[in-house]
Amino acid sequence: MKDFVTDSRILRCTDLNFFGDRKCREFEVAGAESYAVGQYLMIRTQNREVGWPYPYFIHGKTAKGLLVLAREDQDLYSGREGDPVEYWGPRGTSPLNGTELPILVTEPAAYFAVYPFICEKAYQKLIIIGTENTVPAGNMISAEIINSVEICSKLSDAVKLLETEAGRGPVIAAFNPGTAETFAESVSKDRKNNTVLLVSNKKACGIDGCKGCYLHSGDTKFGINVCCKGPFMPLTVIDFKADGRCFETYL
Ligand code: FES
Repeated sequence: MKDFVTDSRILRCTDLNFFGDRKCREFEVAGAESYAVGQYLMIRTQNREVGWPYPYFIHGKTAKGLLVLAREDQDLYSGREGDPVEYWGPRGTSPLNGTELPILVTEPAAYFAVYPFICEKAYQKLIIIGTENTVPAGNMISAEIINSVEICSKLSDAVKLLETEAGRGPVIAAFNPGTAETFAESVSKDRKNNTVLLVSNKKACGIDGCKGCYLHSGDTKFGINVCCKGPFMPLTVIDFKADGRCFETYL
């Protein structure tokens, strides 16, 4: 993993429309790094006087750069073609274990986090918790995805589905904090053991330097550095009482 800063620039940006009509923008950032799905770039823009870096998941590689996704509330979203940016990474660890394809479980607000697995076709099923009318009308989500998506109007329906034959296999989950905690309380022990969850606590450096992203852990003295070992962490290591209030809520 690269942990030094690279001066780069935005080569291209494209508007995307996601579930629930959420606006995201795909950015091609100049660079030659390889990545594993689930990793992210720490990117700092010069859109503000004080530019704080933020992690952006990588969902593709082109001849000239890497593709990342920015939500409307993130600094990079207002960047334009030619704008300078600084990045370091790819950082983080891919949660794919190389054998069985995962089931992705998410809600519309956190869909951006599973999008890289979809782009890579590294999933067997996508479960969205929401209602049918959250499916976007535009062409930004391919028919292939729409056909493989399972819409569950309630979290409990998704949990039930994951306990059936159709729900076998590892799970990658991305939720807002309230849904994540309820999910963790509702699933069986077996399911918990093969589920990883997006841990959305603050990542300021992405290189195990600031200790800001640490999860409490009974097993290790200083806790677990989510920026390096995550951001998808085994559900079994997450203590919602100790760390849940540090998780970010997505709109
Ligand atoms: S973000 Fe700084 S240690 Fe993880």
